[in-house]
Amino acid sequence: FRRGGFLPQDERYSRAKEFLATAHELFDSWSGEEILADRATGAFLRDARAGAFVHQGKHFDIHGRFNVPRSPQGRPVIFQAGDSEEGREFAAAGADAIFSRYSHLEEGRAFYADVKGRLAKYGRRPDQLLILPAATFVLGDTDAEAAELAREVRRQQVSGATALKHLEFVWNRDLSGYDPEGPLPDIDPLVSEEHISRGRAQVRMYRDPVAIAREWRELAEANKWSIRDLVINNGNRQTFVGAPATVARTINEFVQADASDGFILVPHITPGGLDPFADKVVPLLQEQGVFRADYEGTTLREHLGLAHPDAAAPAERAAS
Ligand SMILES: Cc1cc2nc3c(=O)[nH]c(=O)nc-3n(C[C@H](O)[C@H](O)[C@H](O)COP(=O)(O)O)c2cc1C
Repeated sequence: FRRGGFLPQDERYSRAKEFLATAHELFDSWSGEEILADRATGAFLRDARAGAFVHQGKHFDIHGRFNVPRSPQGRPVIFQAGDSEEGREFAAAGADAIFSRYSHLEEGRAFYADVKGRLAKYGRRPDQLLILPAATFVLGDTDAEAAELAREVRRQQVSGATALKHLEFVWNRDLSGYDPEGPLPDIDPLVSEEHISRGRAQVRMYRDPVAIAREWRELAEANKWSIRDLVINNGNRQTFVGAPATVARTINEFVQADASDGFILVPHITPGGLDPFADKVVPLLQEQGVFRADYEGTTLREHLGLAHPDAAAPAERAAS
């Protein structure tokens, strides 16, 4: 993707916009065409123009024949994940969903209000862009049992080496000489364009590393935490911990409070880790009437309750 180097920061979303628009041109290049499958050969019989596209722009100059017919959902569901001002505008202009990192209640509500508030100027309704943060969960028969299990899981997830790596994202320095069971480094993070994690997602998670480091040091001192304790206790991601009824209630409270439209569940054990959620929490959400009782369609777009792209402009479709 880098094609020999990063684009300057301010051009990245301009390229992203053109990329998405170009992708849409391709996705739509078969629309309105009569597509018939030849029963004998299985080949597609189609109008000679189907799939023809020409795109000339600043970032892309391409033409040809797109060889993929439109899918039943019209276009693939577009997820956006980027948190800057431009990233949020990009999502508001054209994404179907945002994979957000604001999964706690208050920050979730602020993010939700901010992004949904940007939709009107693009002629879009709030329900046309879903906000779906990642969340984990730990279930137990009782809340106390779940809390105990959550502590155990977290300790196993964060080894000493993992804890040091986590700190390196903020400090932007090699911290392998530090004892993970000891106090936090008293040196400050290195603030530089060059980052130790070389372009991984975490780079932009911490906008002001020096302030974060100070905050973490204070937190660790106040609680007498080691480096590893801090990382264990300071998980960025929302975790719903409790008996199934507690987890179902809390998730619903988040959605009713406009902190999200739902969650992307990240089980701590894969792939089986989703089973207890499906077996124990989903029925409770269904009882509360906040989760579908059965599939209402066959595509991801339908499962997410998103409209078919053509449904947004019926008049236009009729005209064509
Ligand atoms: C919640 C979240 C998840 C992300 N996941 C990924 C990922 O899986 N892979 C990736 O390359 N970048 C990922 N990113 C990075 C973004 O795609 C983007 O490059 C970065 O946030 C910079 O854009 P921004 O300046 O608008 O924040 C993620 C960002 C966020 C906020």
